[in-house]
Parts: sequence; C-alpha cells; structure tokens
Amino acid sequence: MKTINLEELYQKGIKMHHITNTAYPLTPTSLMRYKIKDKEEIKQLLISDIEKLDSLALYVHVPFCQSRCRFCEYAVVSGDDYDKKEEYVTALLKEIDMYQEIIKDKKILGFDLGGGTPTQLETEQIKRITERLHKNFNFDKKTEMSIETTPVIAAKNYEKIKALYDMGYRRISMGIQTINPVLLEAFGREGSNNIYKTAIENIRKAGFKKVNVDLMYGFLNQDLDDFKATLEYAIKLNPEYITLYRNRYKGTKIVKEAEQVTLEKVNNQYKEAHRILNEAGYLAPFGKNTFSKLPNDEGTSDYLTKRVIEGLPYIGMGLGAQSFGRQYLAYNEGASTKTLKNYFNKINNGDFPIQDIYKLPESEAIAKMLSVAFYFAFVDLSAFQKRFNIAFKEYFKEEIEFLLNKGFIEFKENKMIVTEKGIENVGGVIPMFYSEESCKELMKINKIF
Ligand SMILES: C[S@@+](CC[C@H](N)C(=O)[O-])C[C@H]1O[C@@H](n2cnc3c(N)ncnc32)[C@H](O)[C@@H]1O
Ligand code: SF4
Repeated sequence: MKTINLEELYQKGIKMHHITNTAYPLTPTSLMRYKIKDKEEIKQLLISDIEKLDSLALYVHVPFCQSRCRFCEYAVVSGDDYDKKEEYVTALLKEIDMYQEIIKDKKILGFDLGGGTPTQLETEQIKRITERLHKNFNFDKKTEMSIETTPVIAAKNYEKIKALYDMGYRRISMGIQTINPVLLEAFGREGSNNIYKTAIENIRKAGFKKVNVDLMYGFLNQDLDDFKATLEYAIKLNPEYITLYRNRYKGTKIVKEAEQVTLEKVNNQYKEAHRILNEAGYLAPFGKNTFSKLPNDEGTSDYLTKRVIEGLPYIGMGLGAQSFGRQYLAYNEGASTKTLKNYFNKINNGDFPIQDIYKLPESEAIAKMLSVAFYFAFVDLSAFQKRFNIAFKEYFKEEIEFLLNKGFIEFKENKMIVTEKGIENVGGVIPMFYSEESCKELMKINKIF
C-alpha cells in the first residue's frame, strides 16, 4: 500500500506525461540506493541471478547510424567513434563470450539485433556477430530473430538484406517516422518516397514475410493532416506491421520543444491513427503501439513480445544496452556518454562493460515489468503471478480500486485491460504501479527536463 494519496499521484503523473511512460525508472539516479559497484560483486550478482533462469531473451546493440537524427534517444555514436566499427565488433564478440560462461545452455526465446542501425555494419560483420551468438547460445527452434535497418540501406543494398535473410533473420523493421520533407530536413534524416518503395521491394525480394514500419508522432511541428498522410503512405507500402512511437524528448536534441507538445495533441494523433489503421486491417487494442495485419501475431519481435507480456528476463550486449534479470537492472557503458571509450576499456580489462547495475528489491522489479506492460495496454495476471509469485489483485488492491472507479481499467480473461479513457490518461495510470520511492520522486519533480 502506498503512503501517497493516489489522486495526487495521478494528477502529478498527468502533469508529467512526457516522462511517465513505459520507460522506468524516471531518472538515471532513481535507483542509486541499490547500485552495486564492486567488480567481483557485479559478477556474482550476474551469476546468481542468471543461474536461476530456465530461459531468457537477448538483445545486441549496434550504435552506428548514417547520422544522428535530432529526435533520437538511443545510444548512437558520433565523431571519431563512428570509424571504430571493426574495433566495436571485436569488443562485442568478447562480451558475447563473457556471457556464454554464465548463460551456458539456457533457452534463448527471443533475439533482436537493434540500434542504432545494425545494417550500418558490413554484411560480414553482422554475420560474425550472428554466428557467434548461435555458436555460444542455445536458441530455441521457434525463436525468430529480428533486425532493424534504415530504409536508405534497404533501398541501396539489396545484397545485404538478402544476406540477413540467409543468416536466419525472419522479421525486419525499418523507420520511416514521417514522410514530411520539411520535418525530415529539420531532423537531419534522409528519406523520400522512392527510397521507401525500393526498400520494401528489396525486403520482399529477399524473402521477408514479417516486415514492420516505424512511424512517429508527438512532434511540435507535425499537425494531424501531416501525420495522417504518413499513415496512409505507410499503409500503401503494405507491411505486415506498423508501429507508432510517440516521441520521447528526454536526452534528444529537440528536448526544448517538449513543453509545447500538449497531451491533447498526442491523444488526438493516436486516436486518429488507431481508427485509420484499424480500418485498413491493422489491428491493435486501443493503446497498443504495434498494429498487426496477421491474425494471432502481436507484430513485435519475440524478444519484445515476451518482455512485455511475460516479463521475460533479457540480457543486452553492446554500447548502452539494458539488461533486466530477475532481480537486477543494468545499463552498459555508453548509456550516458554515447561514446565507446569506457566500453572498450572494460572489455579489454576482462570486465563486464557495465556502467550501472542495481540489485532490485521486488517492488522495483514489479514497477519495471508493469511500466513496460503498458506498451501493449494490458497486464497478464497469470504471467505476473508466474514472474513474481504474487497475486496482482491483492498486491495492488487500493490502486486497482482507484483505477476502476475512474473507469480507467477493466478485468477480462485474466487480464487487466486499460480502457480508452485510461489510455488517454496513461501518464497518470502508470505511476500507480511504481514503487513507493519512485512515487515520492515523481511528486518532487517540478521540471520535466
Ligand atoms: C533503433 S530505431 C530504428 C531503426 C533505424 N535506426 C531507423 O531509424 O530507421 C527504433 C525506432 O525508435 C523510434 N525512436 C527514435 N527516437 C525516438 C524517441 N526519441 N522517442 C520515441 N521513439 C523514438 C523510431 O521510430 C525508430 O524507428
Ligand atoms: S532514429 Fe534510427 S537512424 Fe536515426 S539516429 Fe536513431 S537509431 Fe539512428
């Protein structure tokens, strides 16, 4: 039970809607009290946590891009680091080997090669990474590997896309974000309708049957008609999935624009998009970001689907990658600096390249899992019970009562489903599942960034 008044917590969450999203914790320092610093202790924590798992997912991060888009929040390098791709691959392979000693033959139920832009690497480099992962780990036969590209690379380098299919990747995702040339120019991102069309043609020719396109909303100079035009364009490309990302401003070059983007604006954009996509056969419950044309297919990669629904532990490798074990949360070197130096140094010393690692109490692990669940707009109660051995409805008794009274949630088929009204106020709903400490932190925050 929380000591904080739930109505006040809700109101504050709404006010801070730019940060009360699926990314938990609220700030890089929120979990400081749980931080482990000693090298040997870190290793022991990894061993003892991973030992208890039967299965997990893997994520590998590639921090290179053609250039850095001004809206981007990810770990992407620039300057001299840009030319250190081969050194990066060598270091990454060492990290993959270090984890092999701990993960051993545990089942791998999901894998994403993400970024940045993984296809910015040479085909041969991607192949070395993929082969090393398969040599070291026990991939479940049903696990489908997923990879990200930009449309420019998919359009200009068919051979590379074909090679990815031949390596075993079966889902591919590319960002279009917006087709508005003025916005693209302002964000420093290359793109044109010709490129997108050729990219899709190449992806199809290579054999991919699971293609996702990312679109973004919540930009200051993006009106509703503009967003609709992008949606309609993406639908015509006929991918299996379309994913909508509301722009997160924290840590981006356009952070100053955030305060002028209202909740009303983003809610309207999402609502229209949901209607348009559903009419075009791209289905998703209200509030979910990934829309799928395929029946019984969430549209997200195995890695993300299992993270969101089951809270499946995952290990992230590469610059700035995040790992969430049963009871720890870690960020690799580079998460804050977006530079390679410390990542390389730690690996060359034979240490795990971890920047921050926190041994989580149960309340924090629960908050982390539930914040991510809002990506799909529901909580699977059996999955929660299985992950924590706790009955959801008892643990969050007061919070559930509060949300039911407001008409923000309902229970169906052993799921807590966030209603349309709940989704429009989701920034106030998510903090209901925060730990006591994070609630107090939220109440104290006055400036968004
Ligand atoms: C790693 S990127 C995708 C692959 C590739 N680099 C590209 O841009 O085409 C994953 C997606 O995250 C989304 N994204 C990037 N910056 C974001 C931000 N600040 N907030 C929310 N989503 C963001 C974009 O839609 C992007 O396509
Ligand atoms: S949006 Fe994609 S291409 Fe642009 S900087 Fe981010 S990861 Fe790189």
